[in-house]
Amino acid sequence: MSTSLFTPVRAGRMALGHRIVMAPLTRLRATVPGSLPNALIAEYYGQRASPGGLIIAEATAISVAGSYGPRAPGIHTAAQTEAWQAVTAAIHARGGKAVLQLWHVGRISHASMRAHGERTEGPSAIAPAGTFANAQGEQVPFEVPRVIETAEIPALVAAYVRAAENAVLAGFDGVEIHAANGYLLESFMQSRSNQRTDAYGGVIENRARLPLEVTRAIAAAIGADRTGIRLSPHGRANDSGEADPMPLYSHVVRELGTLGLAYLHLIEPRASGAGQREVDHQDVPSAAALFRPLWQGALIAAGNFTAESAAAMVAAGHADAIAFGRYFISNPDLPERIRRGIAFRPYDRKTFYSAGPVGFTDYTPVA
Ligand code: FNR
Repeated sequence: MSTSLFTPVRAGRMALGHRIVMAPLTRLRATVPGSLPNALIAEYYGQRASPGGLIIAEATAISVAGSYGPRAPGIHTAAQTEAWQAVTAAIHARGGKAVLQLWHVGRISHASMRAHGERTEGPSAIAPAGTFANAQGEQVPFEVPRVIETAEIPALVAAYVRAAENAVLAGFDGVEIHAANGYLLESFMQSRSNQRTDAYGGVIENRARLPLEVTRAIAAAIGADRTGIRLSPHGRANDSGEADPMPLYSHVVRELGTLGLAYLHLIEPRASGAGQREVDHQDVPSAAALFRPLWQGALIAAGNFTAESAAAMVAAGHADAIAFGRYFISNPDLPERIRRGIAFRPYDRKTFYSAGPVGFTDYTPVA
């Protein structure tokens, strides 16, 4: 019998009862000040937990400099670490597994979003094209980021490690390194945002160095079998995109493959806009299928999946599990709906980043 979405599978230390994963989703509902997860956020994740189901909690700042803004949660203070315990408890209470996505935004924020007006920081002094909603909610051009000096890299890696250790202290079963969607680690990998002349720029081996150092350091600190990583080789989000992604990402995936990680999480090319557009690319090759031959461990694929395409992907062996983003927002009981063949409830984009329970905790499950 072919593998189904309900065939159990392992992802490192985690034994999963089914293969329907909640993708990391920024919802901007943290308590300000402090960028703290709160009771509403714990309720939201608890609603989406299921026995043996993996929830990848939203991108979470590893440092003040790496923060998107105050309404995105952090994992760099003691108060944040303690506050996340209510979230992991809510997920575990329903038999689910919880992973926290570790985030440094790099050049994708604005000085107005920082407590002390600090500039964004990135690999090179290149502003992303386009605009960003500043603290006043006005669309303003992106700023030129402060360049992270070579001598600062060990402290940056240490901040990732501390965040991973805090996540374990908070009760998470693992962490996912956010190396996708134009944020810091991806901006180091890609030539359009990285024009460094030190050991972290230039040839592919150099551009891949920071994400690989971060991954090795986290794996050494908390265990490779609790460490996952997310990549978007064909992504275009936040002015990202490598003209010829295969050589770069083949190197990255091969090197990651030597580390014994819990999983590799790939965003499919047809969702290159990272869920920010309704219609993205169609009729493009699958990233999971392309990179699968280079990767021996568990592989999660994400991006524009339906119940049918998810089942087909897993049955074909291109991926071990499928992450759903937008439909997990409006269907807290998504695994159960898929199991029973119940149609998905549509989501409401207007409430993705709004405040409070509307569009967040008010989607009721089917009876
Ligand atoms: C996202 N996405 C995203 N990705 C990520 O790696 N970390 C994050 O915090 C977020 N936040 C986020 C918020 C919202 C509101 C959306 C819609 C998307 C991308 C997401 O994880 C997923 O890759 C895409 O949404 C594509 O999958 P779906 O929605 O087509 O299943």
